[in-house]
Parts: sequence; C-alpha cells; structure tokens
Amino acid sequence: MSNYDVIIIGGGPGGYVCAIRCAQLGLKVACVEGRGKLGGTCLNVGCIPSKALLHASHSYHEATHNFAKMGLMGKTQSVDLAKMMDYKQGVVDGNTAGIEFLFKKNKVDYIQGWGKITKAGEVTVGGDVHTAKNIVIATGSEPSTLPGVELDEKIVVTSTGALELTKVPKRLVVIGAGVIGLEMGSVYARLGSEVTVIEYLNQITPGMDGEICKTFQRALKKQGFRFILGAAVQGVETTKTKAKVSYKLQKDDSENVVEADVVLVATGRKPYTGGLGLDSVGVKVSQRGVVETDHWKTNVPGIWAIGDVTSGPMLAHKAEDEGMAVAETIAGQAGHVNYDVIPGVIYTAPEVASVGKTEEALKDEGTAYKVGKFPFMGNARAKTGFAGEGFAKILACASTDRILGAHIMGPAAGELIHEVCVAMEFGASAEDLARTCHAHPTFSEAMREAALACGDGAIHA
Ligand code: NAI
Repeated sequence: MSNYDVIIIGGGPGGYVCAIRCAQLGLKVACVEGRGKLGGTCLNVGCIPSKALLHASHSYHEATHNFAKMGLMGKTQSVDLAKMMDYKQGVVDGNTAGIEFLFKKNKVDYIQGWGKITKAGEVTVGGDVHTAKNIVIATGSEPSTLPGVELDEKIVVTSTGALELTKVPKRLVVIGAGVIGLEMGSVYARLGSEVTVIEYLNQITPGMDGEICKTFQRALKKQGFRFILGAAVQGVETTKTKAKVSYKLQKDDSENVVEADVVLVATGRKPYTGGLGLDSVGVKVSQRGVVETDHWKTNVPGIWAIGDVTSGPMLAHKAEDEGMAVAETIAGQAGHVNYDVIPGVIYTAPEVASVGKTEEALKDEGTAYKVGKFPFMGNARAKTGFAGEGFAKILACASTDRILGAHIMGPAAGELIHEVCVAMEFGASAEDLARTCHAHPTFSEAMREAALACGDGAIHA
C-alpha cells in the first residue's frame, strides 16, 4: 500500500499531462493505466496513428498526382499496406515509450492495471490498495455504436479497426460525416477506395462554420467522396466478406441500401467509466454517462474528473489543458481553462481549423460582426505547393474590432489557427493582427490578409 497526494486513473493526454504537472508542482503522484501502454486513445488508436496514415496516404497522393508536374519522374508508386501499418505502429510505439520516459524523469509512479475507486481516497488496482488525498478520473471515451449495427472490427469497424485494415477496401462506407469519418475516409480514398459517407444531418461536420462546411464538402467531392446527407442508418447486414448498409432518406422516407467491403461506424464517442466503481462511491454521472463536474470537481470531495469523461468537446488538447488546470488547483494555484479559445482541427487535405464563434453562432446571439476573408489562391506560398484551395476567415466585433473567431480551410490550417488563438487570448483586434509583420512567403500571410480584410482591405485579393 502506498500513499499519494494524487492518483490519476487513465494515462491518456488528460491523465499523463496532469501527472507530469502534479510532479512538477512537488506533489507525490501516480498514474494508473490498464492498457499496457501510456497515451490513451489519442496515442494508441486515435490522433497519432491516424495522422501517420494521413501523412503516408497524402505523400502517396503527392507522388502520384503532383510529382510529375514538378519534373520529378520515375516509377509509379504502389501501396504496401502492411508496411504502412508497420510505419504507423513505429510512430505509436515511439510516442508511448516517450511518455514512460517522461514519467521516470518526473518521478511519476506508473501503476499498470485497471483502477477502481473503492472509496473516497482509495484506489484498488488488482489486489493492491493505494491511498491518495486526491483522485483524478481521466478515463476518456469509447466509440458509441448504433442500434442494429454489430461491430466485428473487420468488416464493420470503429476507428480502431479502420487503423488496422489488412487490405484497402474497394468500397468503404462511412457512417457519420464527423471528424473521424472524414479523416479515415480521406486515408482510404487516397489509397484507392470508393468512399461513401452517410450522414444523418443535411451537412457535414455539424457545428462548424457553415461556409467552411460547404466549401469543405465540395473539396472532398472533388477527391471522389460520395455524400448521402439527411440519411438515418437503419442497420448493417454482413456476410463473410461484405456488408449491406440500409438507410432511410429524411426527404421522402425512402429506404435504400448501399453495399460495402468495409463499414466504418463514426457516429461519435461516449464517456468511458466501466469498472470504476463510481456508483458505490456516489460520483454523479448524467444520463448520457458524463461525469458531472464544477471546475473539474465531482460532487465527492477529493475526486476530480477531466477530459472526454466530462462535458465539452472530446479533444486531446482540451483534456491536456484540464489536466494541467486540475493539478494547479490541487497544488493551491489558480488552475484555468479558457473554453472560448479551444481550437478544432480536421487533418484532411486541405486541412480545416477553427476557433471561437462561427457566423451562425454570432447571428444567433445577435452580435454585430464583420468578416475578413482571404483565398489561398492569393497566397504565393500555397500556390508553389498546389495548395491554393480554400480560404481563411476572421470574424471580428463590428464595433470594437476584437477577434471573435477564425475559420480556415487550406494548407497548414491546423498550425495557422494558433496565431488567432494567441491573439484571442490577448483580446486582440483584427487590426492588431493586420499590423503584425508576417514573413514572406508564408501561409501565415493569409491570416494577416484576412485580418486586413476586416479593415481597409486585403492586398492580394
Ligand atoms: P462526431 O460527433 O464528430 O460525428 C459523428 C457524426 O455522425 C455526426 O455528424 C452525426 O450527425 C452522425 N450520425 C450520428 N448518428 C447517425 C446515423 N444513425 N446515421 C448517419 N449519421 C449519423 O463523431 P466522430 O467523428 O465519431 O468523432 C468522435 C469524437 O472524436 C469527436 O468528439 C471528435 O471531435 C473527436 N475526434 C477529433 C479529431 C480531431 O480533433 N482531429 C479526430 C478524431 C476524433
């Protein structure tokens, strides 16, 4: 039995970051993880392996579509999927080992096994009982499934199975036009699959800025994606090697079927609290399984919760921020997360990124705003790499010029968005950003031009 200041259950981005921050602040800390590897969903079966496959498949696309245009001639590239998966696993293993190294460096105890809260201040792992003044629940989320759809992770897969296919499917049907569906759809579309996306709503990526959604959908269509929108999936029937996905169209109630070699179910995720013993210690959980918190405190003193298991966007970086904030709060500091400035990125090509308010949200709340927009076709750096598709858009308050949001579809959008995040954290105006010198030629100039467009006008548009 060992005594800690803090025990964190879950070694994903929320949990491991929280553990390291606790150690840095002089707290005696342990992190419990049952997966056998640190890094959670993000590192093992989410963000990182999908980025590896996106990188590999994008490189293949560049080689087959753009190399010859630049005078790079040679044998046609071909895909060895097994080798690509090995490369992906190497990336994952390197990153998970990196966290173990960070734990050792920071003197975080890594307890391997599934943790259960046996009472406030007590976590049991296997037969071992550990005590702690504070327990942080950071157990993450798991894929949510649909009624009538049975997963086998071979023909009917979640993102986990989609990251481990042994063959590029001829026909991939994706259920759900959210982030997972479009990222994994992109991987296999680039490798040669015919990709059909069935989405319940009448638009893709719900919640994102409407103009971005439309432009993004057009871009994906050009890449060969087929979209069936306003369609509720009713069920999936499988044979040994194939599947039939039935769906009902909302516009006329007609029932339809589409055939697939692989079906990816990407209809969202749900909090994971299995086996934690929350009932017996009395931690309040909503009907949807979300652990209820107030500034990361649950209703039971000494028990905290962060990340996907709580409310808010299920994003690794949101969990990381909460992990740091809760550590700081436990250490007696003023932990803080600015939920108004949490960026979202979709790692397709072009990338899509956003932060702050959308135009729709500003209209709904009745805020008068102005729009500064700049197309990447006017950005010299983008054109050198055949990446002139898309635009950057900054939304600013009509009266104060304060930046309220930004939405980008274009090259390196996931990097560019942070310029606006920093500006928003400092309460900057669009003019502040427009008056900041930007190196030429860079993609970042598109952000400055969008900011200029909020004032007297962009130069290159
Ligand atoms: P999501 O919530 O982003 O999208 C799910 C989609 O499925 C929605 O558009 C929904 O309308 C649709 N849907 C639900 N039921 C349906 C039905 N019966 N028929 C047809 N469509 C249906 O969920 P997703 O893509 O599974 O991602 C899960 C979580 O993981 C999200 O919170 C996401 O933000 C996060 N994530 C983030 C990534 C990133 O930041 N790049 C990458 C991957 C996941």
